[in-house]
Amino acid sequence: MRTVRTSAPGKLIILGEHAVVYGKPAVALAIDRRITCTVSLSSETVINGRAFDANKHPYFDHMMRYSNSPLRIETESDIPSGSGLGSSAALSSSFLKAVSVMNGVHIDNKKLATDAFLTEYNVQGRASPLDTSASTHGNGVSLNGPEESGEHLWDITMNENTWSVRNVKIPKMTMVIGYTGLHAATGPLVEKVRRYKDKCKFASDIVDEIGQTTLEGMDALRKGDIAELGDLMTKDHKLLSILGVSCNELNKLVNASLRHSYGAKLTGAGGGGSMIALTDEPEKVCEAISLRGGTPFIVKTGEPGARVE
Ligand code: PMV
Repeated sequence: MRTVRTSAPGKLIILGEHAVVYGKPAVALAIDRRITCTVSLSSETVINGRAFDANKHPYFDHMMRYSNSPLRIETESDIPSGSGLGSSAALSSSFLKAVSVMNGVHIDNKKLATDAFLTEYNVQGRASPLDTSASTHGNGVSLNGPEESGEHLWDITMNENTWSVRNVKIPKMTMVIGYTGLHAATGPLVEKVRRYKDKCKFASDIVDEIGQTTLEGMDALRKGDIAELGDLMTKDHKLLSILGVSCNELNKLVNASLRHSYGAKLTGAGGGGSMIALTDEPEKVCEAISLRGGTPFIVKTGEPGARVE
């Protein structure tokens, strides 16, 4: 029987999370942690050995509408879920790529990124296409960056926002991830920022300032100015903390990493999940993160996007 195996990478957000939901710029890089889907035709849909249940499998509940037939699905992941490293986006782009192959239709990256984004939007509520674009395209992507930030890939529109997605050239740099071990769902954190922003002009100003900081960071990336990029990441962490999406565990790991880094910040939705540090002393940063109870790993960035294995 025909079996298709696909994979897609997780991502880290260097700058711009949360503000990107409101159409501000952001940058994400694909990392060397992936989700793999193995899919074959079946008389009924079975996921990792269990019968499909819409309540337990909300992502598959949305995504199975793209499939012409029931499927046997096996997933393997080396991205912890709720870690802020884009596991749901990687699942969506990997699985939807497998579905298109099973249906015998070619899917281009714009359609794959859009369908994966619609899946996130439907399951998680308000979202941006940052994670799904990074996971689909791989390498690095900017959203709503200036023309000079990289080659234009595609636009995605949802309600009042349009995001223009570009490929980003990544200078040689080392990133360490520190996972707090705390699972944090993205939807409620995005909702928390929305409520704060709707209620208070100060929160809107912070969102604007994250946007401005991200534009400066895109410039630093283009120039390969790692020290400047690090400073802007640390500033972004402070702005995200003011928005209320950091937590003690993240702040501890960020502060401990800063001694050996150009900059450090939470990455993804926050509230737990992970932080990143930009450093040329990765072993020292890993040690500092471990000492404060986090799980460190050095990541490779600029990895390939969704693909058939
Ligand atoms: O924690 P993650 O990997 O789901 O990243 C969320 C990024 C946000 O900007 C908070 C939401 C979004 O959809 O862009």
